[in-house]
Amino acid sequence: MLCTVGIALLGCGTVGSSVAQRLIAERDAIERRSGVRYELRGIAVRNEGKPRGVDASLFTRNALALIDDPRVDLVIECIGGTHEAGDFVERALERGRHVVTANKDLLATHGPRLRALAQVRGSGLRYEAAACGAIPVVRMLEESLAGDRIDAIAGILNGTCNAILSAMENGAEYDEALRDAQARGFAEADPSHDVEGIDAAHKLALLMQLAFGLAIITPRIGASGITGITKRDIARAHMLGYRIRLVAAATRRAAAVAPVLVPQSHPFADARGPENVVRVVARDAGTLALHGHGAGGAATASAVLGDVVSSLHAIASHRDVVAHLPLEPALELAPLFADLPRLPELPRYPRWDDSILEAPVSLEQRALS
Ligand SMILES: NC(=O)c1ccc[n+]([C@@H]2O[C@H](COP(=O)([O-])OP(=O)(O)OC[C@H]3O[C@@H](n4cnc5c(N)ncnc54)[C@H](OP(=O)(O)O)[C@@H]3O)[C@@H](O)[C@H]2O)c1
Repeated sequence: MLCTVGIALLGCGTVGSSVAQRLIAERDAIERRSGVRYELRGIAVRNEGKPRGVDASLFTRNALALIDDPRVDLVIECIGGTHEAGDFVERALERGRHVVTANKDLLATHGPRLRALAQVRGSGLRYEAAACGAIPVVRMLEESLAGDRIDAIAGILNGTCNAILSAMENGAEYDEALRDAQARGFAEADPSHDVEGIDAAHKLALLMQLAFGLAIITPRIGASGITGITKRDIARAHMLGYRIRLVAAATRRAAAVAPVLVPQSHPFADARGPENVVRVVARDAGTLALHGHGAGGAATASAVLGDVVSSLHAIASHRDVVAHLPLEPALELAPLFADLPRLPELPRYPRWDDSILEAPVSLEQRALS
């Protein structure tokens, strides 16, 4: 054992409570795997009195004091949103703390600036859980494919929309499917970010930053959601051999999030309920695909804890393994799905064609010409 690392956890809701329980209950295993001893110094929440099944003496409402505690080396942010969580992450990086966050909204809108701050301060910033929950796509892009060139990325990035579309395939109306997704914890009380395609655009922006090294932020990506899809559209798509899926896809110059007709035999159509699928097209590695749980407390905590172990290693060895190189400024993004064909029976929806990922250069040229 090299040292004792102090950990502060911010937020103890769906994700944070799973992280807290594992940090406490599985401490021996995590310490054995990382070779580093740690101490959970405190957990910041909004409502200190809420019962949560975790030692009550750990809770505080003062997140800033916890971050500033000189015994804290690593801050895990599981609050969400861009305002207070953004201030906390910035403060932690300013103080040279390592940060692990699950916050896609924050990274999709302030990622380039926070990465630059982490670089200047020599802090670690890790965010595997921010894109597609348990699916290790961030590490795949940042580390495994770091020696390759990534040409395109695409997938089903929003589990809430996929759960609603799957339920509608089984006969539910949109409102009923949304209520069911909320009752089963897949959709938030205010589901607008999910169903309007903004959450998928946030994740796509983050993946584009990693895949292409470009300073993409969400407003540059044209996004539409699933609110106008009817049960009739879904039934008609089914008769024609398709499923409707909210697909997010990007090359270096073009991107889109929209409902798309996907052939029933395509891997995107295999995503059922709240599952996610991510496809990465790399010059040398070819096409790689990951499929799994994109959300949920336990699945997301798995990704957070992977980043915690990496951070513990980095802190113990006084180095940071994540090199936050500056992102290049992004050019205007063309609408990637503009060239996709449409069926006369369902003209609202573009029909998915893998060639838009396999031949990105020619498509980009066409889209930009
Ligand atoms: N849920 C998922 O499946 C999932 C998947 C991937 C990524 N994420 C990301 O994970 C993050 C957390 O999501 P969640 O679903 O766990 O959210 P959540 O259930 O709403 O939990 C948020 C937590 O933050 C606390 N909090 C709010 N404002 C605070 C403040 N000013 N100071 C201290 N604590 C504060 C809340 O305290 P109280 O409990 O006292 O209200 C609560 O414990 C988000 O960035 C989300 O996008 C979630």
